Amino acid sequence: MELWFTLLRREWELAQRDLRADDLDGAIAAIRRSVHHLRSLDASWQSLLWLTPAEFNGFRDQLGEASGFQSYEYRHVEFLLGLKAESVIRPHKGLPAVYADLERALLAPSLEDDVLAHFSRRGLPVPAEVLERDFSVTYEAVDEVVAIWADIYRDPRPGNELFVLGEALADVAEVFTTWRQTHVSAVRRAMGAKPGTGGSSGLAWLERSAARVVFPDLWAARTLV
Ligand code: HEM
Repeated sequence: MELWFTLLRREWELAQRDLRADDLDGAIAAIRRSVHHLRSLDASWQSLLWLTPAEFNGFRDQLGEASGFQSYEYRHVEFLLGLKAESVIRPHKGLPAVYADLERALLAPSLEDDVLAHFSRRGLPVPAEVLERDFSVTYEAVDEVVAIWADIYRDPRPGNELFVLGEALADVAEVFTTWRQTHVSAVRRAMGAKPGTGGSSGLAWLERSAARVVFPDLWAARTLV
């Protein structure tokens, strides 16, 4: 799974590079490839979903305090999807190069921020507050941006390249959310509501984390169409 996270990060960084160069075709191609990687990532849960509490207990002690909180490629994935939090980079303070890279990613635009900057350069009315926002904060839906996506979605033909981009991003959000929900199911099944080895409350903490919405404008726009 760590290798899939790394591959996703590379694809979305390529998509950002293309968006910054206003190469929409290149960005769409990278985002579409990433949907295939996400589906493979999600499928790999099948090899773990059978784990019973007694079987998990059989090796859980050996984890010590190790946990998913130490996955820095996962944090890059979350940050690129716009799910930002300063607290989640703290576990990486012991690895200065990793920490510095995560700190840079926390402050940098997400994939959606780069999409909106591209929209603005195409003349679409993205508010200045959105373009100049504090990128270290999780993006929330903004009415003007929701209206832009709703307009794009009123023309759902393959020739509408922004519609194609929207659907590729919707696929990313959907499959990533499925991965998180399946993680919650695996945790519920293997350890119930015991606290996590990484120091969180476990299931309850993960349920809250999995409920965070990726690309909120894209979902809100559907209500308007
Ligand atoms: C049945 C097996 C698994 C169990 C019981 C489990 C349990 C947990 C728990 C309890 C947490 C909360 C943090 C903590 O206090 O430890 C967590 C977080 C996390 N786990 Fe797992 N996990 C499992 C498998 C995996 C696998 C295979 C991956 C893939 C790399 C993974 C990646 C993560 C990540 C990235 C987080 C942080 C999630 C977030 O910030 O929303 N876990 N896991």
